[in-house]
Amino acid sequence: MMQGYSDVLIGLQYGDEGKARVVDALADHYDVIARFNGGANAGHTVVVGGTTLALKQVPSGIFHPNKILYIGSGCVVNLVKLVTEIQVVRKAGIDLRDRLFISGQASLIQPHHLVLDTAHGKAIGTTRNGIGPCYADRASRMCDERLLNVRLADVLANPEVVLQQIKENCLELPEALRPETGVIDEMILELKEALTSVQPYVTLDPLFLERRVRKGAKVLFEGAQSCMLDVTRGSVPYVTSSNTVAAAAYVGGDLSQRYHRKTIGVAKAFMSRVGHGPFPSELGGEASAHYCAEGDCLAHGKKNEAHYNIEELLQSGDALKVGIALRVLSDEYGTGTGRPRRIGMLDTALLSHSVRMNGVDGIFLTKCDLLEVFERTPNRAIPVVRRYLQKGKEIDYVPMTDNEYEEVEPVISEIPAFSAAFESSPSFSELDTQLASFVRLVEEDAGVPIFGLGLGPERDQMLLDLNWIK
Ligand code: IMP
Repeated sequence: MMQGYSDVLIGLQYGDEGKARVVDALADHYDVIARFNGGANAGHTVVVGGTTLALKQVPSGIFHPNKILYIGSGCVVNLVKLVTEIQVVRKAGIDLRDRLFISGQASLIQPHHLVLDTAHGKAIGTTRNGIGPCYADRASRMCDERLLNVRLADVLANPEVVLQQIKENCLELPEALRPETGVIDEMILELKEALTSVQPYVTLDPLFLERRVRKGAKVLFEGAQSCMLDVTRGSVPYVTSSNTVAAAAYVGGDLSQRYHRKTIGVAKAFMSRVGHGPFPSELGGEASAHYCAEGDCLAHGKKNEAHYNIEELLQSGDALKVGIALRVLSDEYGTGTGRPRRIGMLDTALLSHSVRMNGVDGIFLTKCDLLEVFERTPNRAIPVVRRYLQKGKEIDYVPMTDNEYEEVEPVISEIPAFSAAFESSPSFSELDTQLASFVRLVEEDAGVPIFGLGLGPERDQMLLDLNWIK
């Protein structure tokens, strides 16, 4: 029998590129959809036939009944949230039994991780899911005789002992942060119950994927967060705590790199970023960063902004206001946190950096329909950052430190805006000429072909070159 292969799909910007919808569109071509990094900090929304599922830990191939869903050892699992997610999915008529498999080598989010992230995650603007403290404990492994890194396999092998260690890890928190003993006991009990529910989904076979791929299975690795949020190669320190680059799929995804075939990049036709960190193409620059981080906007952004007059915002031509309009129209608020995402122009200088850093073979460009917004601005132009200048000299990469990156001067091109293109585009060869030339410009700057376009919110409002993916 012919052996199978694996493709890796990752985001090329700062997350929230719409990866889940692309995974959903491609899932028919694979047998397994697998996660290799992160945990409940991800927010992957899939909409099918009026059902919207906001997934956090379960891979996005969920609406394809016969596909296996795999959570690899590179992930960190919040058991309590996973149980809820499985229940929500079941209510939508989808049974995950014999479909969802979780590596026993994945680490557990423990109560003290949540406490620490909530207390210390503000400077980075984390999602407070305990992700950073959990990966830190994975690296620390043990403290004296106590396990800091608790994997599913460890706790299933010896539940009473390991749950006691998890409790001790919580008792070791500094006094000011330590929950009361009764609260800790409750959390441990909740964890124990969740463990019982999740146990049937755990696989203790470290070669689970290899066995299947050797017999012909095709795997699509679904990256969470995005390459610019990689803990090592991203926009450090304002990043997540896992490796999010494409190569990480072959560590956290539990398959050898020998099966790799293609690297698929997903980018949004404009940009967004959650939390802090440099963002040279941000519409409204620092004013936007402050606005999005402010107490009231942070807490009630979506509710407040829903009342804004979109036409007035767009006609003002003010970059901050145009960004707000884009955020409202595109619903760019954190899936898990509800935080308003900072909005920016498409940045092809960054795209080229991400493509080369990950060896991307082709790009799916999402949310192209929203470019129509720029038709309603006074200069009827789509601004695109295409080059970076550092102290007057052009650079073709994203600098390593946030200070250097903050100082980069973006060079912006104004592309004539268009709108009629989005109603129906049956194939790439029949693409509206203005949209086609926009696509060509992005391809030239990024250095790889665009094989798919998002043209609207519905499942069928996308254009996909199936020959590219076959
Ligand atoms: P953490 O992953 O919760 O530790 O958060 C670290 C940084 O990554 C913060 O700036 C988050 O906003 C960002 N981040 C984490 N997950 C996502 C995501 O799924 N989309 C966008 N940003 C994310």
